[in-house]
Amino acid sequence: MADGSPTFRPRIPPRRTGRPLSLLPFLWVSWRDPLRIWAERHFNEPQVYGHSAFGEMLVVSHPTGVRHVLTENAANYEKGELQRRVLGPMLAEGLLLTEGDQWRRARRILAPLFTPARTVKSAARMAEVCEARVTGWSLAARARVVDVDSEMSGLTFDILSATMFSDELGGEARGFERALNQFLANGARIDPLDVLGAPDWAPRLGRLASLRSARFFEQRVTALVAARRHRIEAGETAPDDLLTALLNARDEAEDGAGLSDEEVAANILTFILAGHETTARALGWALHLLSRQPDVMARLQAEADVFDVSRPDWTASLPWTRAVLEETMRLFPPAPTMARRALGDDEIGGQKIRAGATVIISPWVLQRHRLLWEEPDAFRPERFLPENRKDVDRYAYLPFSAGPRVCIGAAFAMQEAMIALAVILKAAQVEPVTRDEPRPVHQITLRASRPLLLRLRARSEPAVP
Ligand code: HEM
Repeated sequence: MADGSPTFRPRIPPRRTGRPLSLLPFLWVSWRDPLRIWAERHFNEPQVYGHSAFGEMLVVSHPTGVRHVLTENAANYEKGELQRRVLGPMLAEGLLLTEGDQWRRARRILAPLFTPARTVKSAARMAEVCEARVTGWSLAARARVVDVDSEMSGLTFDILSATMFSDELGGEARGFERALNQFLANGARIDPLDVLGAPDWAPRLGRLASLRSARFFEQRVTALVAARRHRIEAGETAPDDLLTALLNARDEAEDGAGLSDEEVAANILTFILAGHETTARALGWALHLLSRQPDVMARLQAEADVFDVSRPDWTASLPWTRAVLEETMRLFPPAPTMARRALGDDEIGGQKIRAGATVIISPWVLQRHRLLWEEPDAFRPERFLPENRKDVDRYAYLPFSAGPRVCIGAAFAMQEAMIALAVILKAAQVEPVTRDEPRPVHQITLRASRPLLLRLRARSEPAVP
């Protein structure tokens, strides 16, 4: 830190040195925690080429190559088969997994629902939901130890439920959360059979357990969509939320048609899975980092004390809050790896690759790369303060990806996370419970190896930075 307090370096899994893993150890490590695949050389070299269980593979960790794959030659790349196999049971027809014309049409229809102007309309409702959660902790009565990951999952789920479905999930919300956790814990892993290309009918280790949760989601969301469609067609007043907007959205540039009910349902599931879990993980890790760096927390509390969501310039009043979130997502990117399959031959950073090759862009590697970041493993939020932000290369920092398939919900997520941090830190002092830290594990998102327990204490005095 600039003021002389010690810099915090959060715990990370060991990095391998020596020879690349052979097939069976590679499969075992990928299944347990893909973060452990990465070796020292991935963090030192701009790109690493080789052959793995996935076939020909290039790991690209330099901004020119990343820009080439995600933007300049994006048409030559599609999402890998592996991602479809892992997430397909839930999200096959949603924006995250579709390709080609189907994706282009859906993106055109959905983009207007996530503009900054539309997103900002949800700010006050987001703040209300955050305040209700903090009130529920009753911190004035006593300090308490909270499982922060579980609380943040509940919070971001409640925010989606309030802003997207006007709370029509009602009592179902907890069932949704449980099913989602079951899906992430069981099915959302890289299964050795998928890597080996085994046919779909071959039973996968965790997939069977997660099919039940996938079915639960599908049934509930289909019912929700049908009920809202019925209300709209019957001429009843429907809530002004994302579900109504989804059902009314039209492809103005082409045929004027909208999304089918199946596409609407798949996209709702996509928003729940892509939006709630990722934002919750970012918030959990941010609170973990703040608990270890009280001087930074004091700066955020000073911003929180004057935070007022009804003021039009409220985002500009939270520069440290934004910087902490951005630095958190650098160190703990909620989506740690993106895989692409080359449709045609290509050349990246002087390396020729053939059609069918896998190209990996890993925010986990890129954002801790020694050629791109000073003190890459240290928590230094000042990198993202407005006066320093211009020094961060757009293609070295990718928590939301970049190019045509950039996260559609990025502005929504940043807004929600900034509000949540401000509301929590206005009320609470956040402290570690033990010296021991959980480490990150990659289970689609970057989760903590064990429950992220933190002590929340009511703040008695406004913070002095
Ligand atoms: C901190 C929170 C979030 C993070 C870190 C995040 C990250 C990402 C990343 C890295 C991608 C690109 C994946 C790839 O290309 O393989 C993506 C895509 C996507 N995200 Fe997010 N996301 C977040 C929040 C949200 C929210 C709140 C929503 C919706 C409400 C959302 C919806 C989507 C969708 C639909 C896509 C697919 C876009 C497309 O392919 O056209 N995300 N997200």
